[in-house]
Amino acid sequence: MAKILVTGGAGYIGSHTIVELIENGYEVVSADNYINSIPLTYERIEVITGVKVPYYEVDLVDLDALKVIFREHPDIKGIIHFGALKSVPDSVANPSFCFDNNNISTNNIAICAEEFDVKNIIFSSSCSVYGNVMPEDLPVTEDTPLKNAESPYAYTKQNGEVMLRFISNVRDINAICLRYFNPVGAHVSGELGELPSKRVNNLVPVITQAAAGVRPHFTVFGDNWNTRDGSCIRDYIHVTDIADAHVKGIALQLAGKTKGNYDIINLGSGDGVSVFEAIQAFEKACGIKAPYEVGPRRDGDVETIYSNPKKAEMVLGWTPKYGIEDMMASAWKWQLKLAELGLAKEKL
Ligand SMILES: NC(=O)c1ccc[n+]([C@@H]2O[C@H](COP(=O)([O-])OP(=O)(O)OC[C@H]3O[C@@H](n4cnc5c(N)ncnc54)[C@H](O)[C@@H]3O)[C@@H](O)[C@H]2O)c1
Repeated sequence: MAKILVTGGAGYIGSHTIVELIENGYEVVSADNYINSIPLTYERIEVITGVKVPYYEVDLVDLDALKVIFREHPDIKGIIHFGALKSVPDSVANPSFCFDNNNISTNNIAICAEEFDVKNIIFSSSCSVYGNVMPEDLPVTEDTPLKNAESPYAYTKQNGEVMLRFISNVRDINAICLRYFNPVGAHVSGELGELPSKRVNNLVPVITQAAAGVRPHFTVFGDNWNTRDGSCIRDYIHVTDIADAHVKGIALQLAGKTKGNYDIINLGSGDGVSVFEAIQAFEKACGIKAPYEVGPRRDGDVETIYSNPKKAEMVLGWTPKYGIEDMMASAWKWQLKLAELGLAKEKL
C-alpha cells in the first residue's frame, strides 16, 4: 500500500488519521515540531495499531529540513497536511506568528510536492473559512460564499485553500481541501485522544476537564447570542469520522478518481448543536456533571454554523458513524485514561 506523509501527525486529528490509515493498510511517515503535541502520541498509536510510526521532529516552516523527509522517503505518494496552529484566540493575540506558521508551512508542502513528484495533497481546512454566515446561508454548502475571516487563523485557512487552488491549476498536483466543522471525541478504545501541549480552549476537552476536576469549571462564551438557547451553535463530528474521510480522500486521489485537480469538501454531520445542548449530551452519556460559568462572548467566534454534508457523501462515499453522545462518551473515556497515564493536568 502507498506511503503517506502526515504533517502534524502527533496532533489530535493527525494521530487519529494515522490510526485509520494504518488500519486500512497504508504506510505512514509523520512530521511534527510538537508546538502543540508531544511525541508520546506515537506510543498511543502503537498501543492501538501495533505499529511504530516513523516520525521526524521538523518545523514545516523550515523548507530544507522538510526536504530531508522526502529525500529519505522517495516513495511518498500523498501528503495529509494537518500541521498548523489552530487556536483562534492565540491567532487573534499573535496574528503574525499564526500567518508565518500556517501559510509558510502550506507553501513549503506544495514546494516539496512539486520537487519530489508527490501528486496528492489533502489540506486541513475549517468551517471558519465561511466567516459569520447569515441564517439564510445555513446549512452551509461548499458553494456558500466565504465572508471575511473572523480571525487570523480563519484567514490562514482561506489562504491555504487559495494557494492550493492556484498551485494545482499549473502543477501536476491534486489537492482536496477538507473543511472540518467541529471535530471532538476520542478513539473508541479510549487509548488515544487529544493530548495538546498548549492550554486547550475548545469545548469538549474543557467539559471533560471540568467534570474530572482538572479545572474547577469552564466558561460558556456568551448566552446572549441570537440562537434557540443563547449559546453558539456548532456542528460536532467525531474525530474518527474525520479521520475516515481522509482515508477515503487519499484513496480517491491515488485511484485517480477525483473530478479535476482541486476540490473542497465539508466534513460535518449536518446537525447544529448548541453549547448548552452539548453539555447536556455529555452529562447524559457519562452520568456526571461538568461545572461551568457563563462569560462574555469571545473574539473571533461566530454565532451559528453547521454544514450541508451531502457533497462528502457523494464524492467520498462518507457519512459520519458516530453521534453526539458517542463523541462525549469517548472523550470521557480518554479523560479517564489521561488520569491513568498521569497526564490529566491543566496547562496554564
Ligand atoms: N480541531 C479542530 O477543531 C479543527 C477544526 C478545523 C480545522 N482544523 C485543522 O486541522 C488540523 C489539525 O488540527 P488538530 O485539532 O489536530 O490540531 P493539533 O494542534 O492537535 O495538531 C496540529 C499539529 O501540528 C503541529 N504543528 C503546528 N505547526 C507546525 C509546524 N510549523 N511544523 C510542524 N508541526 C506543526 C502541532 O505540534 C500539532 O501536533 C489543523 O490544521 C487545524 O487547523 C482543526
